Parts: sequence; structure tokens; C-alpha cells
Amino acid sequence: MTTLEQAEAAEHELSKELDRLVIMKSVIYTSGERDPRVPIQRPPDQGKRYLMRDDPRLPRLPDKPTLFDFFRCRFAPANHLLQSARLAQKNGTSEKIILACLLHDIAISGFIRGDHGYWAAQMVEPYVDPEVSWAIRYHQALRFFPDESVGYRYPEMYTKLFGPDYTPEPYIHEAHRHAREHKWYMTARLLTVNDLYAFDPNVQVQLEEFTDVVGRNFKQPKEGLGLDASPSAHMWRTIMWPTRYL
Ligand SMILES: [Fe+2]
Ligand SMILES: [Fe+2]
Repeated sequence: MTTLEQAEAAEHELSKELDRLVIMKSVIYTSGERDPRVPIQRPPDQGKRYLMRDDPRLPRLPDKPTLFDFFRCRFAPANHLLQSARLAQKNGTSEKIILACLLHDIAISGFIRGDHGYWAAQMVEPYVDPEVSWAIRYHQALRFFPDESVGYRYPEMYTKLFGPDYTPEPYIHEAHRHAREHKWYMTARLLTVNDLYAFDPNVQVQLEEFTDVVGRNFKQPKEGLGLDASPSAHMWRTIMWPTRYL
């Protein structure tokens, strides 16, 4: 079979599989597009089954997925994360900061944008040193506030994206005040310093560059990430199977 024939055959298989399944969208997929107060009508199943696991349209994760499997199948190409982690490495920061840079925006890549620092921190909390998840949580607030002592300025990109008048909500100001007084302030601050706001689409960084850092600092559960019983396992499962009916 030629490559084209292979692609066509795969597409045919996929449409056959999709034909047998009903896929219902969670509210989060339709937010802003429909009134959440109106009850959702279940489409007629016509003898089909509702999807309860792997979505045939998505890359399938291995049976015991690792952090890198999530990077490959859900967060890829992850250029922003990889380039930020490499910058932290080049700047000679500690492994905790390199890991925090590698993970800081995984919520955006795989899940949700709003409050992404808090979501990502919770996702990784059971598997990393508390200082790493703390830094990820507080980068959410710190990136809005300059710190001259380390040359961190308010990102120009934010002025462009949100307008010059944008000011964060009081809870973000409060989180910034709290972080300033904390013993791990500099860890979170160095994350924001190495968080690349203008990353280069042409620079390719391989995930494997961080095999050792991740191996030493991320407790990979033996059952597979999301299939363990940690307090955030369900979040990883949702990223693995985002469209299951229940
Ligand atoms: Fe971020
Ligand atoms: Fe970032």
C-alpha cells in the first residue's frame, strides 16, 4: 500500500468506528456557545453506544502512560514548555526550576486555559517536590508583576493581548503579596523569568533532553499516570479520555 492508500484506509476505519459511537460534548466544550441553563438534549442513539473510553480521533495513550506519553500524545508539540525548560537549564537554575518550567503550562496544552497555573499545580502535586508545584501555582500571579531585582518586566505580549488597561483580579494581587513573603518566592519568580513569552517557532527542543531531570524529580506511578489513586489521577484520566460519556 502506498502512503496515500494507507492514510485513506486509516480514515475509512476511523469513520466506521465513529459511526458506531455517540460522542456527547461536556459543558466546557460548549461554554459561551449555548445557554448552560437549558437542559442538554441527548441525541438519539439509533442503536449506537455512547463513548466510554478512547476517542478514536485522538492519539491513544499506552496502557500505563508516563508523563512523556502525555507530552507526546496530548501536549505536543509543547515548544513553549520545552524552550522554557531549556532556557532555565542554560541559565544554570536548579532541577526544580527546570522541571517547573517544563510543566508550568501543561494545563493550557492539555486541558484548560483559565487559572491554568492552579490547575497544573494540582495535576502534578502528588508527583513532584512541593516547591515545584508551589512555583507552578504562583507563576499564575507573579507573571503579572515586575521584579526589577531579577530583571523581570511585565510582558509586552500581555499589553498586546489584554490591552494597556487590564488589571488582574484582587485574588491575583493577594496571591502575589502572599508569594512575595514566602520562602519559595524565588523559585516561582525564576519560573517566570524563564517563561518565554516570545518563543521561536523554528527552535526544536527534544523531550529526551529532560529524561534525567524528569527521572530524578517526577514520581511516575507504576500503574500509569491517571490510573493510580493519587488525588489528581482523575485530571490525567480526563486528559486521556476527554470525551467519554461519564
Ligand atoms: Fe503560564
Ligand atoms: Fe508559559
